[in-house]
Amino acid sequence: MGIAHIIDLPKILDARGNLSFLESARHIPFPIKRVYWIYDVPGSEIRGSHAFKRQHEVLIALSGSFDISLHNGKEEKVFSLNRSYLGLYIPPMTWRTIQNFSTNSLCLVISSTSFDEADYIRDFDSFLFERAEYEAK
Ligand code: TYD
Repeated sequence: MGIAHIIDLPKILDARGNLSFLESARHIPFPIKRVYWIYDVPGSEIRGSHAFKRQHEVLIALSGSFDISLHNGKEEKVFSLNRSYLGLYIPPMTWRTIQNFSTNSLCLVISSTSFDEADYIRDFDSFLFERAEYEAK
């Protein structure tokens, strides 16, 4: 399993407006199965608060900004995303919470899996238990 890290995506600076892109094989550390996005989030709301058993993902703040708290079962780390050319890679078995959304922010999620509710761990204590078991393997 990889470690959560920021991915610096290409940016083509242009006086007419900038452009960034990603290609599955070049920039994303897994084959892309699904893309979804979170938008119109009221400033005080919190999204996520769960872990995925198998899903790898990359989050991008296509617009605006938000904070992502990651917990690996031992410690928490917070990443702030506020540039549309930065992605945050999140490995499976990571508890993740997204909050402090700015007005009109847009969170793009690039996922390694199709949607599967059975892949979610939605209870933090269950996550801590499963994560410890996972590490003991
Ligand atoms: P969820 O992943 O819990 O949202 P968040 O983590 O951003 O707070 O998803 C919210 C609801 O949307 C849940 O009922 C499942 C549904 N959903 C899909 O049907 N397909 C998808 O690809 C996603 C991401 C969610």
